[in-house]
Amino acid sequence: MKTILITNRKGGVGKTTTSVNLATNLASKGFEVLLIDLDTQGHLQIGLGIKKHFLLGIHDMLKMGKIYENGIQNTSFQTLDFIPAHVNFDISELADESAKLKRLFRKIKQKKQYDFCIIDTPPTSDVLLKNALKVSDYALIPMQCEYLSFTGVLQFLRIFYKNSISVKSNIELLGVVPTMYNKSMPEHKQILQKLELEIGKERILPFIRKDAKLSQAFIDGVSIFQSSSRSRGAIDYNNLSNEILNKIKEV
Ligand SMILES: Nc1ncnc2c1ncn2[C@@H]1O[C@H](COP(=O)(O)OP(=O)(O)O)[C@@H](O)[C@H]1O
Ligand SMILES: [Mg+2]
Repeated sequence: MKTILITNRKGGVGKTTTSVNLATNLASKGFEVLLIDLDTQGHLQIGLGIKKHFLLGIHDMLKMGKIYENGIQNTSFQTLDFIPAHVNFDISELADESAKLKRLFRKIKQKKQYDFCIIDTPPTSDVLLKNALKVSDYALIPMQCEYLSFTGVLQFLRIFYKNSISVKSNIELLGVVPTMYNKSMPEHKQILQKLELEIGKERILPFIRKDAKLSQAFIDGVSIFQSSSRSRGAIDYNNLSNEILNKIKEV
């Protein structure tokens, strides 16, 4: 199982949209995928179209270090499972739970042979992220193509590397995904050039263009591949998924 952490301490950059569309794309390619919502806002389940209210979620499992009976939910995709967030869970109840999280992941791996686990994270770089770093193989950082988002990503990368070292994580940067890209905006092109100079071309993943159909699909609780399979959003997320499969195959 390869675990991909979708992270950026900034909100509204496309983390949850990327989590849903990457997970549903990989699942539709036949991979067994587990999607975990570490963000106590619980947005992921809206994007998956799951209306049920869950009393317990990943945050409780993290605290207790065990998988609850029926803790892993089915989705409308046969090969996609989901662990919801505990909405509004008080994360001050969590300290360094990484030993418990590691145990939890061992149990998850015993339950089913997942090919991928995708973790959506809150817009913070707090204890939750530090815990998640310990069990993740790769980090994927969505970045809006705007100047402040760009400088935020550079700052975030510094914290990310520092945290990874301090928690002795072997996590690798899979890359930065430029999101909401609009080629008619000169600023967007400039930001991509600056990003390339800072982090190198090989760390920039295929961009996702701005597409209102992505927002609509999210609100409707369906994946973009079901609602508008020929849209820009569907094409771009499929490209991203293929590139990630290639990159992971190489290592
Ligand atoms: N490529 C895109 N084109 C248009 N809207 C997008 C795109 N990606 C995300 N959005 C919208 O931007 C908002 C924030 O995205 P979201 O994935 O929730 O970000 P985050 O999880 O980082 O807070 C949502 O309303 C979402 O529908
Ligand atoms: Mg989100």
